[in-house]
Amino acid sequence: MMNGKQVLVTGGTGGLGLGVTPLVLAQGAALVTIPYVKAQEVERLKGILSPADRARVRFVEANLADETAVEQLVNGMERVDALIHLVGGFSMGKTHEYAYEQWKRDFDLNLNTAFLACKHSLRRMLEQNYGRIVTVGSRGAVQPGGQLAAYCASKAGVVALTQAIADETKGTNITANVVLPSIIDTPANRAAMGSENAGRWVKPESLGQVICFLASEAAKDLRGAAVPVYGSS
Ligand SMILES: NC(=O)c1ccc[n+]([C@@H]2O[C@H](COP(=O)([O-])OP(=O)(O)OC[C@H]3O[C@@H](n4cnc5c(N)ncnc54)[C@H](OP(=O)(O)O)[C@@H]3O)[C@@H](O)[C@H]2O)c1
Repeated sequence: MMNGKQVLVTGGTGGLGLGVTPLVLAQGAALVTIPYVKAQEVERLKGILSPADRARVRFVEANLADETAVEQLVNGMERVDALIHLVGGFSMGKTHEYAYEQWKRDFDLNLNTAFLACKHSLRRMLEQNYGRIVTVGSRGAVQPGGQLAAYCASKAGVVALTQAIADETKGTNITANVVLPSIIDTPANRAAMGSENAGRWVKPESLGQVICFLASEAAKDLRGAAVPVYGSS
């Protein structure tokens, strides 16, 4: 449970966020702060929240790849009890054809946003001597596949970052763990791949249960875990 907690959910309006954000609210979070880039995704999330839940969400326009924006976002929170960092994205291509600009964009989106969100949240958590950090890697971080070098390498970086933080925070009431999803049953994946195999994919709500446990007070002795959440795929 997250009773009374102030939680930063980056990517909280995305496909996975549609499952995670309502769950964080259902688990009793006092206030959920969600940075966003696209206003239409804010409206999509608002559409599935009750008025009472909407009142406990604060949306802040912020680009998480910009350190000043992340610093302001975190400083705007009264406390940062938990960071649930969902921001990330996928792209494919053979390595010998892959544009360096795209490689750098992938690292910005997956690894650099994670670094900035963790860095500034951790600063606040160390002051409070309380915090839970949950990041999102991918199965590809530990089982890299062809045409996915940038995605897999940047997600492997997220795992390493999270485990380094877990090591740095030993002896405190701050933990850091990472989940490794395979394919998530999101609207974007259904649109891209059809729904035939969707029954085998992990539901955002189900992955959300794992994330919320790692973000809860109860998970105080779990540090540096990379948790596979593959469903039946
Ligand atoms: N979908 C899958 O099958 C799958 C599998 C394994 C791992 N994952 C990982 O799970 C996480 C969530 O995936 P998803 O499917 O929910 O992705 P998504 O639908 O594309 O959502 C990504 C979210 O990140 C936000 N975001 C992106 N760039 C941002 C930036 N620079 N600043 C602030 N916010 C930014 C987006 O906000 P805006 O829309 O406002 O830009 C959106 O809310 C990602 O880390 C992804 O790599 C996904």
